[in-house]
Amino acid sequence: MFCKSALLSLALAVAVSASPITQDGGIAIALTKRGSLTHPNGTFNGEKAVAARLKLESKHRQNLINLEHNIGSAKFQELYPGVDTSKLAKRAGIPLTDQEDDLEWTGSISIGSPAQTFNVDFDTGSADLWVPSSSCSSCKGHKQYNPSRSSTSQSERGSFSIEYGDGSTASGSVFTDTVTAGGVTVTNQYLSGVTSESSEFTQDPADGLMGLALTPISELGHDPFFVSAVNQGVVAESVFGFKLAPSGSELYIGGTNSRLFSGSLEYHPIVKNNGFWQIGNGKALLNGRTVASDIQTIIDSGTTLMGAAESTVAAFYNNIPGSGFNDQFQTYTFPCDQTPQVSFSWGGKTWAIDENDFNLGQVSGNDCAGALTVVDLNQPSNVWLLGDTFMKNVYTAFSIDQNAVGFAALA
Ligand SMILES: *[C@@H]1O[C@H](CO)[C@@H](O)[C@H](O)[C@H]1NC(C)=O
Repeated sequence: MFCKSALLSLALAVAVSASPITQDGGIAIALTKRGSLTHPNGTFNGEKAVAARLKLESKHRQNLINLEHNIGSAKFQELYPGVDTSKLAKRAGIPLTDQEDDLEWTGSISIGSPAQTFNVDFDTGSADLWVPSSSCSSCKGHKQYNPSRSSTSQSERGSFSIEYGDGSTASGSVFTDTVTAGGVTVTNQYLSGVTSESSEFTQDPADGLMGLALTPISELGHDPFFVSAVNQGVVAESVFGFKLAPSGSELYIGGTNSRLFSGSLEYHPIVKNNGFWQIGNGKALLNGRTVASDIQTIIDSGTTLMGAAESTVAAFYNNIPGSGFNDQFQTYTFPCDQTPQVSFSWGGKTWAIDENDFNLGQVSGNDCAGALTVVDLNQPSNVWLLGDTFMKNVYTAFSIDQNAVGFAALA
């Protein structure tokens, strides 16, 4: 069922360290990288990669369902001609043997009055906030939100569900409450307290997730945290910035941290208004040569690698002598001693990916797994998902004011 395509993508890894650093114009949440898809001995962790791909496909399937629900079928069909969300396949129950899904960038937030704190995955590829509920009996390893202990909590109508990579689903009740991230406090923020967790999630270092994409893909059908912060006028600037690196990673809310990048930010407008941080007019380059043009890219901090449709990924690797598809590991490979230099451009600078980020480790012999993988996103074949692999190489700014994504060189 998961065919010849390759893999993955993942949620990045990180954990909170230290307390927020206050600066002019915004507040930083320190993030620390937690895991990778490469074993300590340098070989590729294929099982973890497959698990991550399934999780990612589930997320994007749900995003499209949410989008159609929020904007209506007619507008949805203009954006996604021929896509029937009622037919988007649910992921089959694939057994996952590796459950240490520790590939996320997490940081601390608090909910309620007095504050209940949670460690969440910050995800620019989805748009809802959820944490485990105090009424969840399978959520024991995680912090649980108790609305009855918060004087600002209010129960709202509706329900929320998340589908995990193994095909299981968790649902939850809907609330509004006061939410603080990095010192920025939003009132009446919609969120869900989920009442069950799959075993896959039990080992996850994150208690829940804070979606940082835009309102059209919210399953709750309400503004996500950062949009609320902008609308409530509680951030100095309507932009947040990410630095994802082996050390010194941070999410900066309400501004960008100019100490972490050099030069100015190169902004590109969002296209389609489909709720994703999706920019157009891009091209992919291989060793300096353009191999795909007029591509659209979704910048997704909740994806570990990079992904695109099977035909797009196959065409890309076709340009690399000695590359191929490894059936056992479900991944495209290239010769380990010739890691290609992959870069992207949207008409300004060319942004290159470090060889160590593109090379995910040895699969067999002289074959190494590449960080561009096949994912079934139900998106047109010119849409690429750029996750951690790309974001680790640039400073990325997400601007509501400018309706744009900006990149700058890391300092
Ligand atoms: C590398 O480590 C993994 C996981 O511990 C193991 O499965 C694999 O056999 C090791 N490979 C080599 C070549 O040592």
